[in-house]
Amino acid sequence: MLPEALIQALREARHVCVLTGAGISAESGIPTFREAQTGLWEKHDPMDLATPEAFLRDPALVWRWYRWRRSLVAGATPNPGHRALAQLEELVPQLTLVTQNVDGLHVRAGSRNVIEFHGNLFVTRCFVEGCVIEVDDEAEVPSCPACGGHARPGVVWFGEAIPEQALERSFAAAQDCDVFLSIGTSSLVYPAAGLAELAKRQRAVVAEINPGPTGLADRFDFAIPGKAGAVLPELLAGLSGDRR
Ligand code: OAD
Repeated sequence: MLPEALIQALREARHVCVLTGAGISAESGIPTFREAQTGLWEKHDPMDLATPEAFLRDPALVWRWYRWRRSLVAGATPNPGHRALAQLEELVPQLTLVTQNVDGLHVRAGSRNVIEFHGNLFVTRCFVEGCVIEVDDEAEVPSCPACGGHARPGVVWFGEAIPEQALERSFAAAQDCDVFLSIGTSSLVYPAAGLAELAKRQRAVVAEINPGPTGLADRFDFAIPGKAGAVLPELLAGLSGDRR
């Protein structure tokens, strides 16, 4: 049973801000990062695969890892959690969806106002100049057609800054919203985790949806235990009757 006060806050919301993490894509078959046994960072050291230094050391290894992740995501489809968020966007006056995921599944599910905070797996950038490029994907380490430097996956690595526009738009949304939903994230990685804290300081109603509570849960108004693919459709069903 979902808290009626949360459904009521969504009914009255002017601007809803949502932050998603790997947990929302778990039900599409994409592994999360930090869960025991199954998490990607349980099996691989991020310092070998997801830093600029790792890329400079062994770009072929890093490319193999990202090609594997691309193929995993290419074979996956959005789940009821992604689809419920796309429908929620149609029911409220404004919704900003900030995702830490690089899988593009929110856009494939039909969400429109999406900020890809950590970039996108399927974008390729020049390692030297940072611009988006098209590459010959056959090469073990593709190169930039303009400058000849290494091409890299268009994701944000550890030690790198969040793209300025994504950062500004996300923090503006967290500051402006009246309801903030934190879904499927361990809330351990900043600055993304700071969005919920900012929303709370600005007196938004803040709710977490996660099978287990995270370290930030006791600071939120609601911690709803459960999988995104079950809880979000239920939330939508509670809301849609009144907000059509
Ligand atoms: P984590 O792997 O840290 O956390 C995933 C969370 O999802 C956990 O709290 C799980 O309990 C929860 N979860 C699992 N299944 C779920 C489900 N079906 N529904 C809802 N929640 C579920 O992933 P993130 O918080 O996304 O960054 O990690 C943040 C960042 O750390 C990632 O963007 C990535 C990673 O290193 C970079 O690569 C820069």
